[in-house]
Amino acid sequence: MGVEKKEDGVSLHTSSFILHTCPVLPVWEAIPRIDLGDWWKEEELPIEWDRFLPCGPANLEIGYGGGDFLLDMALREPASRFIGIERFGEGHRRLVKRMRREKVFNVLPVMGDAYILLNLLFAAGSLNSIYINCPDPWPKTRHASRRLLTEELFAIAARKLAPSGRLYVATDDAPYANQAAEAFSKTQALECLHPEAQWLLVSPYPTETRYERKWKMEGREMRYFVYQRRP
Ligand SMILES: C[S@@+](CC[C@H](N)C(=O)[O-])C[C@H]1O[C@@H](n2cnc3c(N)ncnc32)[C@H](O)[C@@H]1O
Repeated sequence: MGVEKKEDGVSLHTSSFILHTCPVLPVWEAIPRIDLGDWWKEEELPIEWDRFLPCGPANLEIGYGGGDFLLDMALREPASRFIGIERFGEGHRRLVKRMRREKVFNVLPVMGDAYILLNLLFAAGSLNSIYINCPDPWPKTRHASRRLLTEELFAIAARKLAPSGRLYVATDDAPYANQAAEAFSKTQALECLHPEAQWLLVSPYPTETRYERKWKMEGREMRYFVYQRRP
């Protein structure tokens, strides 16, 4: 895995992996109950991703919504695989429909709660990147347990990342960005790739998420974090 540097900040990994095997069936046919999203309950855990997806670096998006970012990344990087965790059923079904229609073979979405599924479905050190884009900030104290940008989630993510694997976070919400920065500062297993600034104001992504596009059109400022697992 190589790393490209951009003038305006930290860019994505470039991949030197070659896609070398491909499951016989496309993923939506190999998993009959894929539309239900909880197909993973019938599998031995952690999931053997090679059974369903072509080989290549494994990337995960948490809270993929309707799946636009995941699908776009998968089309841009056909030699990588992209897994998604989402608990919103309508978004999951929308993504599966598009995978079928656009014949995308390297995406596999899973429905359920990220805190549980990140622990259960992935072997330690198995992920190349994890993305958390525009998570709901849940500003009320009584909803704090629903927040994704926590020290607890970052620690689980760090265990699942390969050495030098990256965790990407994007939010438009200033108080939530401050909370995320504090949680990152307590996560010793992760190293900041933009030490000159708490967060980046320029996107490190080659594409946009649906919410990111919406927030930018409303003139809201996005904040991006890129952290790397220490070797
Ligand atoms: C505001 S939307 C952003 C969607 C997409 N990432 C984007 O940027 O367009 C946040 C998404 O995260 C999902 N989400 C929130 N908490 C989650 C959790 N614990 N596990 C799985 N998905 C979660 C929600 O269902 C929702 O679809």
